[in-house]
Amino acid sequence: MTPNLGIDTEKNTQICDFLHKLLANTYSLYLKTQHAHWNLKGATFYSLHLLFQSQYEEMAEAIDEIAERMKALGSVPEGSFSNFSKHSVIKEMKGEHTTTDILHALLVDHETITRFIRDNLSFVEGAHDGATADMMNKRMFVHEKAGWMLRSSL
Ligand SMILES: [Fe+2]
Repeated sequence: MTPNLGIDTEKNTQICDFLHKLLANTYSLYLKTQHAHWNLKGATFYSLHLLFQSQYEEMAEAIDEIAERMKALGSVPEGSFSNFSKHSVIKEMKGEHTTTDILHALLVDHETITRFIRDNLSFVEGAHDGATADMMNKRMFVHEKAGWMLRSSL
């Protein structure tokens, strides 16, 4: 049964489409950050190993929140690798890379997700979906902070 929340049906569908993409991109960056956590090398290994762990753990919780927000809006989040790779723009990282390349790649990804959220914020606010907008603002805060930490490590 579709929830009767006072959000325009068509706008609700578009918001869920956005959330599905946000879910896929966040999951992809979660996995990529974990790859970096495992495959880092060099003098800064341990501090970055811990930084990446704190970032992917935070994203794991966010992934659950995004998917559950979709459920509250009456949508069906699809938790599959094929779906995530189809809806994500985050480029996969394979193998070992220099620390600089890893930091730069993750920084670009956090900024990409930040912009993606910001680009959709006015639409969500316009649909009077304050709860989703609150979550989006929180996600931007986290991704912007992660970007600062990565940028400062470069
Ligand atoms: Fe670990």
